[in-house]
Formats: sequence, C-alpha cells, structure tokens
Amino acid sequence: MKAITISRRNSHRWLAFGQDPDKPGNVIDTNQMVVQAGNSSMMLDPGGMEVFPSMIAALTQEIAVEEVRHLFLSHQDPDVCSALPLWRRVCRPDLKVYVPWMWTSFISHFDRDANMIAIPDEGMEVLVGADVKLRILPAHYLHSPGNYHVYDPKAKILFSGDVGAALVPEGARQSMFVENFDQHIQYMEAFHRRWMGSTRARDAWVEMVASLDIDVMTPQHGLLFKGDDVRRFLEWFSKLEIGNGVEAFARRG
Ligand SMILES: [Fe+2]
Ligand SMILES: [Fe+2]
Repeated sequence: MKAITISRRNSHRWLAFGQDPDKPGNVIDTNQMVVQAGNSSMMLDPGGMEVFPSMIAALTQEIAVEEVRHLFLSHQDPDVCSALPLWRRVCRPDLKVYVPWMWTSFISHFDRDANMIAIPDEGMEVLVGADVKLRILPAHYLHSPGNYHVYDPKAKILFSGDVGAALVPEGARQSMFVENFDQHIQYMEAFHRRWMGSTRARDAWVEMVASLDIDVMTPQHGLLFKGDDVRRFLEWFSKLEIGNGVEAFARRG
C-alpha cells in the first residue's frame, strides 16, 4: 500500500494510505488518512477487514500503533469500519472511536465492546495531541443519513469521505492526486449521481465547504484534490443532478 505525507508542519502531519497493489480486484479501493500530532494520532475511516493487513503494515512503517489514540468513522459502511474489531485488537485499550450517533448500535454489530463516542448531528471538535483541533462537520445524506467529514483548519485539509470519491482504473493513476480535473470527471460522475441522494444536503454541504480555507480535499476513494481542483470540484458537484436510480420505480416489472 502506498503511503504519502500530504502536509507536515513540525510534528503535525497528515498521511494518506491507499492504492494497495495487493488488494483483490473485487474489493473497492479506499484511502485511509492519519492525522499525527506529536505522539498522538487519529485515523480517519480506517477501512475494511480485507485491507487491514496491508494497512497495518503500511501504517507501522510511519508511526507506532500505540500512538493511534482516536479512530473516526464517517458512516456505517463496511469499507469504512468493518476492520474496527481488528484495529481494537492491536491498538491501545483506551482507543476512542468517534461514531455517528445514529449508527452506534449498528456498528456495534462489528464490535460491541469498542469505546464509542457518539457524534451529535451538528458535529464536534476533537483535540489530537496538545494543539491539533479537528472539526468533525456534518455531511448527512452524503451519502449516509448520518455522515460526517473532518476539517483541520491548521493544515487546511478536508477529509470528505465518499464526497469526491472516484473509481479510477489502475492504468489511469499517475499519483495520489488529481492531475487533470476534466479528465477525472468520468471516474466520479456515476458514483455521485447514484450515491448522493439529497439535493438539499448537497447544497448545504457546498455552502459550508466553500466557506472553509482548503488546500487539499481527501476523499475516501480515488484521488485527492489540491489547490484550484477543490474549487473545481465544488462547482462541478453543485450543478450535478443527483438521486439517480429513482426512475427505476417507473420501470418496475
Ligand atoms: Fe459509503
Ligand atoms: Fe466509501
């Protein structure tokens, strides 16, 4: 699995893990983010059980597993959190797991003994290390009804979960970043049209995110957006027709 540092200032670092060449082809590719602040780290959407062996091998090249003190789960999907019980086996016993309030009892089906902190609808702040304050922001209905993203105002990075996700064929990836936005649209379009169902939520999210100072936006699948591509993404997403699939009701047999 690839690991890159996307931002570093003293002991405050963002790491992105993904594009695992050993991943079975029928398992969707995921990006795992880690925010490090001194000897304390938070993992964002740690991933599914199929990627756990590669992910822990890649992670421990960079930081000690004892330093992971926080896990953030953006929503309930298996590609986000099915590895939760495996992480808890190797992480410290006081590991804090931040979970959308409405999914706590559902995610307990993966691991009922996890130390879960229920994220309220409006989000919350989490202090990592001595001075890195992360803001958990609402992203409900994008795509899950209880869904959150994470903004780091110091690093100017937004972890955007499934928003900005792309299914990029291996041969079309030069790096972990989008290089040509117009070319990249083809890998995002079908996913956003179908997975994102609420225009009202999309509009509220775009307005919220447009007010943030963002250098890098990191989705959970596909490539990361930097610089002007963040603005290009917001413009593209704000105009996209979403909720595709509803027309199937009219075609029912
Ligand atoms: Fe999802
Ligand atoms: Fe996902």
